[in-house]
Amino acid sequence: MAAVLNGAVLAVLCFATLLGASHGYKHLILMHGMLSSGAEFNTFVKRLQETHPGSTWTVIDIFNNSKSLTPMWLQTFVVGQKMQAIMDQHPEGVHLLCYSQGGLLCRSIIQTLPRHNVLNFISLSSPQAGQYGDTDYLRFLFPTYVKENIYKFFYTWKGQLVSVGNYWYDPFHQSLYRKYSLFLAELNNQTINCTQSDEYRQNFIRLKNLILIGGPDDGVITPWQSRYVVCFYIIDLIESDVFVL
Ligand SMILES: *[C@@H]1O[C@H](CO)[C@@H](O)[C@H](O)[C@H]1NC(C)=O
Ligand SMILES: *[C@@H]1O[C@H](CO)[C@@H](O)[C@H](O)[C@H]1NC(C)=O
Ligand SMILES: *[C@@H]1O[C@H](CO)[C@@H](O)[C@H](O)[C@H]1NC(C)=O
Repeated sequence: MAAVLNGAVLAVLCFATLLGASHGYKHLILMHGMLSSGAEFNTFVKRLQETHPGSTWTVIDIFNNSKSLTPMWLQTFVVGQKMQAIMDQHPEGVHLLCYSQGGLLCRSIIQTLPRHNVLNFISLSSPQAGQYGDTDYLRFLFPTYVKENIYKFFYTWKGQLVSVGNYWYDPFHQSLYRKYSLFLAELNNQTINCTQSDEYRQNFIRLKNLILIGGPDDGVITPWQSRYVVCFYIIDLIESDVFVL
């Protein structure tokens, strides 16, 4: 985590320098991951303060720890309102740095907030294409299931009451995924009837830069390549000349 965050520091600073040369730093909003809290960024903000005095940031510290399992749409609404208020105070634009599940949350906020002013969205080790894998936290939360059968729980209305169920992507049960996934399938325009896909797309492509950071060795998100995929939006971004790193 420390190494990954340091990589992100470089990315933030690099873009802050590019975009903010004459106006100082843009405000940075940080969103934590699952089973964690804003304290996750303590070392990061200390380092930011040391290396780039004058930068400003807000750490979102709600949906802490077990509350991070709250359904993703509810988190999107609550955190989205909070972020919109911060954006209103920074009309010159903000950057988002969001870790793990927080990256998926930030993406849904960007897709659904019509007045967002996010310039750079840094998604750090986030399951943008969904999660399918046995990881430590799944074994801890659902000890009686393995990745091959947990769809039986996640692809039900009850399973959708858990955040992980909202972005569980089982490649062997696609029709159930499309039917039950209330969140990821909707964001990705994979539901049977996604009526808001145009609006989601319009909001998303207003980003200046999408920065996806991840690697095979953090053991959280499986498959790890999921960090680099934002489904069809990638194509939109490339076509609209937005950099994808
Ligand atoms: C969440 O955790 C942070 C510490 O990281 C704490 O300051 C904050 O009060 C907590 N928020 C809630 C809503 O419990
Ligand atoms: C999709 O939307 C159409 C038009 O609103 C409706 O007729 C159809 O029943 C819907 N299909 C499903 C599976 O919800
Ligand atoms: C979403 O999917 C529908 C049906 O496949 C398609 O008609 C629509 O153009 C898609 N929306 C976007 C924004 O790509």
